[in-house]
Parts: sequence; structure tokens; C-alpha cells
Amino acid sequence: MIISGPSDYREAARRKLPPFLFDYIDGGAGDEATLRANQDGLASVNLKQRVLRDVASLSLGTELFGERLAMPVILGPVGLSGMYARRGEVQAARAARAAGIPYTLSTVSVCSLEEVIAANGAPIWFQLYVLKDRGFMRDALRHAEALGVTKLVFTVDMPAPGPRYRDARSGMSGRFAGARRLWQAVRHPSWAVDVGLLGRPHDLGNISRYRAKPAGLNDYIGWLGANFDPSISWADVEWIRDVWKGKIIIKGILDANDARDAQRFGADGIVVSNHGGRQLEGASSTARALPAIADAVGDRLTVLADSGVRSGTDVLRMLALGAKGVLLGRAYAYALASAGQAGVARLLGMIEKEMRVAMTLTGTASIDRVDRTVLA
Ligand code: GLV
Repeated sequence: MIISGPSDYREAARRKLPPFLFDYIDGGAGDEATLRANQDGLASVNLKQRVLRDVASLSLGTELFGERLAMPVILGPVGLSGMYARRGEVQAARAARAAGIPYTLSTVSVCSLEEVIAANGAPIWFQLYVLKDRGFMRDALRHAEALGVTKLVFTVDMPAPGPRYRDARSGMSGRFAGARRLWQAVRHPSWAVDVGLLGRPHDLGNISRYRAKPAGLNDYIGWLGANFDPSISWADVEWIRDVWKGKIIIKGILDANDARDAQRFGADGIVVSNHGGRQLEGASSTARALPAIADAVGDRLTVLADSGVRSGTDVLRMLALGAKGVLLGRAYAYALASAGQAGVARLLGMIEKEMRVAMTLTGTASIDRVDRTVLA
């Protein structure tokens, strides 16, 4: 199929992937109202068109946590990326590196931290979940530090997995899930050979090294439910602050008081996020929650945002609402599924181009000038 804009990758991914994987990426919690609200909320953010302001020398570059970025975009943590493309985490990290932006490896990735770093050579950001086994956390932090990771994205909005009904409908979880997945793989032979066979081993690479038995892929959703920890609290953040020397970015903040607490407990940054509408059905869209949070802590913390961003224009909208950088999730997962590293590279190129046009037409020559004055 012809890809002409970022949103085309969704359909391309739908055609390529067995439904259980496409729906896992694409779906959200409950009836998916928050998932839809994220995109609708951004779509309704109007930008102010300005003209005749000489924006010939336009720069998208920015700095986050002392790191230079070619544009204020980060590939966010996406679980199971190695099931969407062969060694998918490695491919996505390479595309990010070529584009001059960070890649964040999920705790629940197929490729391990060492595999991605060995293949990519550059430091990456690492995302950590709280698992019931706190020994895992301590070891994972130590391991990441030894590998040179300096940015920790600590996800706090998943003390339990959200109700993802699509996963049960499509065979990711539920009765006869294994047999249904096998049948879907047979009907998607190019994925079955490229990823299903040649993309092995399929495992949760960061977790298995601490366990005798490969973790979690057969009943991934059940595994998440059994291992994620509802007792997680600010005491865990305090503990991480004590043992982790690098930057801590708390992901999953949607409330100004929580943002203030994040600052009090020593975070360097936050990600304003509802986990792409995958957790609390009924939660506010990020576009709605972001301005008050940026007002509350934006001068003391680096405020990032995600959820609903599908285009370069959406990135600019998030920046105008108060974010200093924007994480992509589904947007690049679709591109990765559709065309691997080349797909993610092309998507990032499109996003960059779209941002340039939006900045030109809003008369903003540099990222630090993108603020609420850009809103109509
Ligand atoms: C994991 O983070 C998920 O949203 O499924």
C-alpha cells in the first residue's frame, strides 16, 4: 500500500500483523473513550497562523536532561516491539539514533537492554515497571547503570493492567488464545516467517535473565496482571532516587498534585500521560490535563507528554500546551510493524517535515518559541 503520511502506517500495520498483535498495539482500556479523547483532544487544539515573519532559518533542535536532540521527539517505551518486527527494539533504536533522538526500551521488551545497546552502540533510555519481585528492580537498575544508561523512565500508571477487552477478543488473552494465535500466524505468512520464525527468541529479554524459566509470552496479559504491583507508592520513588544516580522521569502523571509530589520526591522530569488510553478508561485526555500540570511544575521539572500524538502537527500542539518533548508510542509501533527500521526512519522524517511546516506557518523559528502564544 502507498504510504504518504504518518497515519497511513496504521492500516499498513493492520494488514501485516496477526490481529492479536495489531489489536494489542491499537487497542485501549474499556470502550476506548480515553483512547479516542487523546486524539480528538489534540485535533481540537487550534494553532495560530502567522505570516511574513521570516522563518527561513528554522531549527527543531532542543536539549533535554543535558542531551542534544535533533527534534523534541522521543521513541517511548512500547512493550513487545520484537513481536511487531524482527528484533524490533533493535530496529527502532537504530532509526531513532539515525534521526538524532532518544529511544526508550520498555521493561517488557523482547530484546534485552544489552542486545539493543550492543547493536546500536548509543546510550538509550530505559523504562522500568515495578514488579512484585523488588529484587528484579534492584538488579535491573544496577544492570542498566553498568551498561551506561543515564535516563530512567519510571512508569507509575500500571499498578494493574487496564481492562483491554480487545486483547481477549483477538486472541492475545482468553480461551484458546495459543491456538488462535497460531491460526492467525498461518494466515499472515510473511509475518510468520520474518518475525515468528526468524525473529526468535521471543522472550521478555530484560526479565528472563533473572529467572530460570522464560517469562511471560504465552500468557503475556496474565503475566502482567500477576507480576505488576498494586502496592507501588512514593516510597518506591524515594528508594529509586537513592539507588539511581542518573535522571528519573516519572511517566503516567495526569494530575498537578501528583506532579508536585514527583518534584518533591526528586524526579527530574515527568511524562504527562494516560498510557495511550490503555489504563484508566474515563481519564482526561493529555491535551486537557497538560496545561495545568505545566503551570504547576514546568519551571522546576522537565515536562514531557504522550498519548494521542500521531503527527508532527500533534507534536507542535503538545509543545504549545506546555510540553518540552513528546513521546511517540503507537505512531512508531505501526511504522515498525509495517516496514521495520526503514518504516520508523521514514515516519520520523515525515514528522520532522510536518513540524517544519507547522513552525513556518505559525511563525516560530525555534522550539523554545513554541508556547501558548502559538495557540489560536
Ligand atoms: C504495556 O505497557 C501496555 O500498555 O500494554
